[in-house]
Amino acid sequence: MLNQLETIVQTAHAELPQLTTSEALIAWNSQYLGRKGEIPVLLRRVSELPKEERPAFGQRANELKQTLEAAYEAHSQAIKSAELAQALKMGALDVTMPGRKMARGRLHPSTQTLRRIYQIWADMGFQIYRSRDVETDEVNFQMLNFPPHHPAREMQDTFYTTNHELLLRTHTSPGQIRAMREFHPEPIRVILPGMCYRNEQITARSEIQFHQVEGLAVGHNIRFSDLKGTLINFVRRLYGANRATRFRASYFPFTEPSAEMDVECFLCDGKGCRLCKHSGWLEILGCGMVHPNVLRNGGYDPEIFSGFAFGMGPERITMLRHGIEDIRYFWANDLRFLQQF
Ligand code: PHE
Repeated sequence: MLNQLETIVQTAHAELPQLTTSEALIAWNSQYLGRKGEIPVLLRRVSELPKEERPAFGQRANELKQTLEAAYEAHSQAIKSAELAQALKMGALDVTMPGRKMARGRLHPSTQTLRRIYQIWADMGFQIYRSRDVETDEVNFQMLNFPPHHPAREMQDTFYTTNHELLLRTHTSPGQIRAMREFHPEPIRVILPGMCYRNEQITARSEIQFHQVEGLAVGHNIRFSDLKGTLINFVRRLYGANRATRFRASYFPFTEPSAEMDVECFLCDGKGCRLCKHSGWLEILGCGMVHPNVLRNGGYDPEIFSGFAFGMGPERITMLRHGIEDIRYFWANDLRFLQQF
């Protein structure tokens, strides 16, 4: 039995240095030293020996086993450090390598323009009033002096809901009524930004949704000169102090008189180019004195109060500013477009 043990231990010793991985080491261990390994199995058979041989066998067996275990430990340490060295080499970090660029979110070009507009009006004492996107026909049209079959409704093709009384606002002007009813009888200086919707053919020049920023001032003795002065001031803050502006007579049912405001083309400085269609001027907003009927619908007595209103399109302003030729880019969510801003 002792011979048998010596042979096994010898073989085990001989195999050990050939093992190079921890897997092989584990297999070796369970073959020889594990609970069902060859050596423990043999040692359990000590009872088969005559009684007087047992102590000598036991002593020798323990010696052999301990040296084998020590050899195993030593080799196991060697393999572990070799494997660690290898892992470090494979996962080596080149700390001088330039980092990968993180994709960074940014503000939508319309949001950027909106925020500039808010800032300028805030500096001039106008607060933001948010009105609803879903409006009634009454507030979107009738209260603004568009009777049911008024031809001016044709200017704003409308998305109605199924009940035909509710619609998606076609402009931010219904917010004038909502603001007046809320602020009455106080004087008002607000801007009303928001999304507007029109049931139109989508083309490079028109979208079915777009922003507007409406403005409304109501108070005592507000005159057309206040409208002009305030809007000229706004345009100078937006486009620079030397930009020329002009007002052209226009028509809106809810303002009287009404005007459109042009700014001297900032691409050609008024000389005429493709952007301004060789007129030297860019149209940027509609405006006018709040119509007496509209004041009345908002709860203000037109004998005591007067006011002005205006409405501008941030997408149009952004397009002019950056030379964007197609309004469809704004909601197409094409990163190649958005990342330019
Ligand atoms: N609501 C008008 C439009 O959508 C713009 C406007 C607003 C004109 C306020 C005058 C006063 O075209």
